[in-house]
Amino acid sequence: MLPFDSLISAQQLTPEIVANVISVTDAMAQNIEQSGRIDLLDDKVVSLLFFEPSSRTMMSFQSAAQRLKAGMVFAQSAAGTSLEKGESIEDTIRMVEAYSDIIVMRHAMPGSAEIAANTSKVPFINAGDGGNEHPTQALIDVYTIHKHKGRLDNLNVVFGYDSLQSRSIHSLSRLLAQYPNNRFTFTGPKELNPRDEVLTDLRALGVECEIRSEVELGDGFDIAYVNRLQQERFADQALFDKNRRKYRLTRDKVEGSNCLILDPLPRIDEIDTDVDSLPNALYFKQASYGVPLRMALLAMLLGKA
Ligand code: CP
Repeated sequence: MLPFDSLISAQQLTPEIVANVISVTDAMAQNIEQSGRIDLLDDKVVSLLFFEPSSRTMMSFQSAAQRLKAGMVFAQSAAGTSLEKGESIEDTIRMVEAYSDIIVMRHAMPGSAEIAANTSKVPFINAGDGGNEHPTQALIDVYTIHKHKGRLDNLNVVFGYDSLQSRSIHSLSRLLAQYPNNRFTFTGPKELNPRDEVLTDLRALGVECEIRSEVELGDGFDIAYVNRLQQERFADQALFDKNRRKYRLTRDKVEGSNCLILDPLPRIDEIDTDVDSLPNALYFKQASYGVPLRMALLAMLLGKA
């Protein structure tokens, strides 16, 4: 069980909740290995509303619902739905809640998740609201770190390269800030550093935060959490074009370091493909944990775990 009906923000998550989610995720992974599919949600219908593009989040929620034997209602984009005719998010949710027992939604507008959750009479999961938050990704990220590092505290983490516009970085940094003795460095183009109020919030939680234009992974980092520059969120395309290939992890930078490389993906320019075969390149494994993790969340929010 979770102490809330809807997951909108990583700020709702505490270390105790995360420990529970990790343990249910482990059980779901074991279920997948032993049985492939289980009957846990065979009396439920899950709505998946993806009004902004997605591969991993959409397909891993689909797979999670299938493995739990839930039925599904599905919108793969706003095209073809009445959002195109101008229907509001609120009215869309009022309809979809009548068709299903839980709603998962991705939408390009920051704050859309809160609007939807406040409207919905059934549990709601934020699958990404614009550049704001991506709490289920943050749970996958901490699951990965816990599994491969054995702890969520005392971590020296470098985030790059678009900390300003990345919902994944926003959610993960907020979540890791709740654990003691974590230190964050943000790197990338200076225009894409976190907003001052984000840094102030993280520092208020006791996190030492630094901004550096360049870093070496050998400088004691435990985790490098990198992602693409968020092209679709740039007001100034010239800024994107100027920086898109400037910030990049190459094999010579990663090889030999103990730093784990995470990326919420999709990978565009931020990691060379010849990094993929290194033992500390965890991003595809990280994405694979999305299925048991999202099975755990669906079951927990529906009171079945
Ligand atoms: N990590 C992530 O959200 O990927 P998608 O955009 O493909 O869902």
